[in-house]
Amino acid sequence: MTEDASTRPGEARASGPSVADTLASDGIPPPPPLLENCYTFLGDKDIGFGRYTSPEFFRRELESLWPRTWQWACREEHVPEEGDTYVYYIGPYSVIVVRSGEDVIEAFLNTCTHRGTRLLAGEGSGYSPAFTCPFHGWSWEINGTIRNIPGRWDFPHVKNETHDLQRVLCERWGGFVFINMDLHARPLADYLGVMPEHFRHFPLERRGVKLHVQKKLPANWKAAQEAFLEAYHNFETHDSPNGGNTQYDVFSKYVSRFIHNIGNYSPESLEDYAGDKFRQPLLTEEELLAFLGVYGIEVDGLQPGERARGVIAEKLRSHFGEALGVDLSQVSESVMLDSIEYHLFPNMFFFAGITVPMVYRFRPDGTDVDNSIFDLLLLEPLAEGAEPPEPPEPVLLDVEQSYTEVEALGWLGAIYDQDTGNLALQQQGFKTSRKPGLTLGNYQEARIRRVHMTLDEFLSNSDGAI
Ligand code: FES
Ligand SMILES: [Fe+2]
Repeated sequence: MTEDASTRPGEARASGPSVADTLASDGIPPPPPLLENCYTFLGDKDIGFGRYTSPEFFRRELESLWPRTWQWACREEHVPEEGDTYVYYIGPYSVIVVRSGEDVIEAFLNTCTHRGTRLLAGEGSGYSPAFTCPFHGWSWEINGTIRNIPGRWDFPHVKNETHDLQRVLCERWGGFVFINMDLHARPLADYLGVMPEHFRHFPLERRGVKLHVQKKLPANWKAAQEAFLEAYHNFETHDSPNGGNTQYDVFSKYVSRFIHNIGNYSPESLEDYAGDKFRQPLLTEEELLAFLGVYGIEVDGLQPGERARGVIAEKLRSHFGEALGVDLSQVSESVMLDSIEYHLFPNMFFFAGITVPMVYRFRPDGTDVDNSIFDLLLLEPLAEGAEPPEPPEPVLLDVEQSYTEVEALGWLGAIYDQDTGNLALQQQGFKTSRKPGLTLGNYQEARIRRVHMTLDEFLSNSDGAI
């Protein structure tokens, strides 16, 4: 253990090589953003359980968070042609994203300016040459201006300024369409902070959706996403000998990151976590190669001086390079292999890696404090010059269903079952505790604390831009 009496809170780290050490010994150096290290101690007070269970707290989120924060609604390729729409739901709110011109994507509240009826039902993609309300037939052009009001003679008081569709802020980044219902919100760029510079090295706009899984989860949306904000759970939840050397960064009140090395297990960090109680023996370098089996790749073994991480990365460069039609020969070990996960407040995750190319979004399930919806996308790099394919419809999984039912998730299915398998127990446990809140590690769980701190800014400042 590196902890001692002279260490200040948040300064202690797991024993063994750090992520920076691992990246420094990789054969192909990582892009510079992966060498950045950004952590400051954020405090160690418990986080109240009521934040996950109280209908009153949830109501405040519905009032002061969701209508005022940026969130991605869909990918640009969900609305490729003029008139294509995508309906997005968050809590009780709904937004229509529409491509209203060749390179114009706009967004409107999904509600009629006559008597409030929702204009488009159901979530997802559609096509509307104009919007027509199903109740009395008011209609709007796809740019939101009034097109026709049946019996107009009775509505001399109805004007464009007051009865065009209600606009929502809409910006794009990385191939995603973001919306914000607060017309006075800060620009998206303020939220993204370092992300455009970092993702210049892993351009998400040059990826296409290979798979979209949408799963119901039996926990508050924050508890659900917090299962993915740390790798501290790896030892117990995944029974994996990896995770101790994960690096955590908090870049701003909106953006944080972890980098979790794959193919590099350290005996020292294992002892820190579980000692001899750990169920899996530490793998040898030779044994680590077995990981390639999940991709159907076999290797004979290591040559003298070779490290498993380098060999695995090299095999995967050619395997994925060929499969995707992309030149991966100069991609660093880290970008090939590692779990490089950025979180964008309040509920979005973007992965930079090639073999771990996920995007997540966690939302309340309607207006239910105890349940959430997990969107999981796999974003595959596109061959040079290729257009993104039409995104697949989401595969819907209910609470009881296993991710392993989704064949395209491959070996990840069982991992996700482990990741979200504890959520019902956690949500129930929140309500049983005499101790009023949950306790967080100073370093490994700092990203969770940062989200709560920013959430508090939204809840305590219900007017101004956050
Ligand atoms: S409520 Fe929409 S046209 Fe009347
Ligand atoms: Fe996990």
